[in-house]
Amino acid sequence: MDPKLDPFTTLLDLKLGTFDPERAPVQVRTQADLRGFFQAEPPRPDQLVYRIMPVPVPTENSEIQCSTTILEPGTVGDEYNMTKGHFHTVRDRSEIYIGLAGEGRLVLATEDGRHRVEPMREGTVNYVPGGWAHRSVNVGTEPLVFFAAYVGDAGHDYDTIRRDGFPVLVGPGSDGPAVRDNPRYRG
Ligand SMILES: [Fe+2]
Repeated sequence: MDPKLDPFTTLLDLKLGTFDPERAPVQVRTQADLRGFFQAEPPRPDQLVYRIMPVPVPTENSEIQCSTTILEPGTVGDEYNMTKGHFHTVRDRSEIYIGLAGEGRLVLATEDGRHRVEPMREGTVNYVPGGWAHRSVNVGTEPLVFFAAYVGDAGHDYDTIRRDGFPVLVGPGSDGPAVRDNPRYRG
């Protein structure tokens, strides 16, 4: 075959999650960008929630996309700071997360309503099989940092999550992070 790309190397700061050199503009998500994903109306719309550092390659299933995410600590209403969460547009595409710093939960859900909550911290390797929507939640006091690699043509379906939510929510409880049913799931 005739290779489509030349090899390249990027240095990843394993604590901060930053790439040097950056391969693409950093994607910034504020509370305002997460309106409709949190249960509560964001109290500080301009507040940073997370940043994504992408390493873009062609969006084809022969390639592997990767990125890091830096998710700030904090809460909105009764929920910890989190990513929007998504199904892959091509539903059967899979993904791997590697935890670099902080303490988090990975919330996963299938289209038929099953869910799982997995740990995220330095050294965790989370496998996200095809068909499972996924959202990261920062349950700690430091930034949650993780590296993600996924099939190149996976795509991101955020709209299904904006409409339906996840079956469970993660927020502060009386004895640490608590997982509770989402009263508005598909409501
Ligand atoms: Fe994904």
